[in-house]
Amino acid sequence: MSVISTSTTEASSAPSAPVIKSPPYSELSSLDGQDVQLIGWIHHLRIQSKYIFATLRMGTDKLIQIVIPMKVVKESSTQHVTLESFVRLTGKISKLPANKYSFLSVEMQVDKLDVLSLADASFPSICPPDAGSDVKLEKRHVFLRDEKFARITKCREEILQAIRLHFQKTECREIVPPSFTGVECEGGATLFKVQHPGKSTDKPMEAYLTQSSQFSLEMAVPAHGHCYCIAPSFRAENSHTRRHLTEFLHAESEWFGIISFEDHLQKLTEMMRGILDGLLDIGKETLKSLDAYDRVLKLRAMVEDILVLDHKDAIAKCRELGIYKDEETKTHFDERDDIPEAAERKLIDKLDRIVFLVRFPKEFKSFYMALDPEDSSRVLGCDVEVPGVGEIIGSGVREQDYERLHKRLLEAKLDPADYQEYLDLRRFGFGMTSGMGLGVDRMLTWILDLHSIRDVTTFPRFPGYLRP
Ligand code: 4AD
Repeated sequence: MSVISTSTTEASSAPSAPVIKSPPYSELSSLDGQDVQLIGWIHHLRIQSKYIFATLRMGTDKLIQIVIPMKVVKESSTQHVTLESFVRLTGKISKLPANKYSFLSVEMQVDKLDVLSLADASFPSICPPDAGSDVKLEKRHVFLRDEKFARITKCREEILQAIRLHFQKTECREIVPPSFTGVECEGGATLFKVQHPGKSTDKPMEAYLTQSSQFSLEMAVPAHGHCYCIAPSFRAENSHTRRHLTEFLHAESEWFGIISFEDHLQKLTEMMRGILDGLLDIGKETLKSLDAYDRVLKLRAMVEDILVLDHKDAIAKCRELGIYKDEETKTHFDERDDIPEAAERKLIDKLDRIVFLVRFPKEFKSFYMALDPEDSSRVLGCDVEVPGVGEIIGSGVREQDYERLHKRLLEAKLDPADYQEYLDLRRFGFGMTSGMGLGVDRMLTWILDLHSIRDVTTFPRFPGYLRP
């Protein structure tokens, strides 16, 4: 809501038009002829002898062209203004001349400038657009203001909106899971261990930063039905690759009533449709500003032509396409080998389709995955693989049998006592669930066709980097 102030821009005894303080950006175009007060950052700056032509930024996509007479600048307390200074401007909104184009159909003629925080004049050189990736990380607060990166950050917000919208439409309940857990979910090798206060002050408990919120969602399903969450997950992975972070944003869901593996694949497909449709709608303008709208239309079309590939057929494809376990010795993968990341990406790039990679040998997947009824040496897991990025979603049907799950825990050298509540879900009306975890950062890298996960993450965390 706009705040109307009776204070005027100039001291005068005669009543004058009220100044509208900080009107909503969306209303500025309708305020032609009105006096307003705006607060923001000087975004672009062109200094001429009689005027400064600039842009005021009140947010990534909230820009207005401003004209400040030099006389007004000289009357300000600093007598000059620099790029990125934080200012309060008072003046008149006026329609742009017919031959001028800008962000809005109006501009602001400034008649009072208050420089609330004068930015250091070195700003433009601190992190110029062509700065190296190290500089962009070290001077993060500057890089965040980069126009393209700000739009990528907006697109991230819109993907999150699209994810939430899909889950709302499909009657999933949002759950807020904890970050501290007492058990591992995705293997001990990538656990962040932390100390958590114990019952007595002298004996702390060993805790972990969660690798996935899957168990919390599974526990919530009997109460709420389909559930989802959007929360950070943590992996102490010493991977210096373009798709690994130590902390990433994880959108996870758990669906009940999944009677067959096909039900699960159907849920995944519907979700991919829903998220991309939502993004095309909610994020249309941002995607267009990033030249990615047509690309997302193509990705959406790819969802109608997903290739479901059994792990053993993927191994056969690797042989066929000359993708080796060891390039140097030209050694082929064996049928039960895990296909490492680089080879997997090569395969998906060659297939150039969205691939549901399914039915993995059970030895390299987590203990909670249901065994394939047709081949109990394999599990009903499905990784969603996309060209350019590789795996963006890990998913699968959950083991429903108490005894089998107990045995799988022992095989994984885990203590079933630590998982008693999780096991007990199988004793008190198990909802036959399946679920998935979507890496939001990887999804965004795919959507925008960017090279690295670090190009889309506002505050990336990876080995050797923790600032600020
Ligand atoms: O395949 P993952 O490990 O699956 C799970 O965590 C399941 N418990 C999820 C579930 O069923 N609720 O991870 C899921 C996704 C991956 O496909 C990837 O997109 C992302 O999480 N991911 C990472 N993203 C960035 N950096 C990392 N180190 C990641 N590890 C996983």
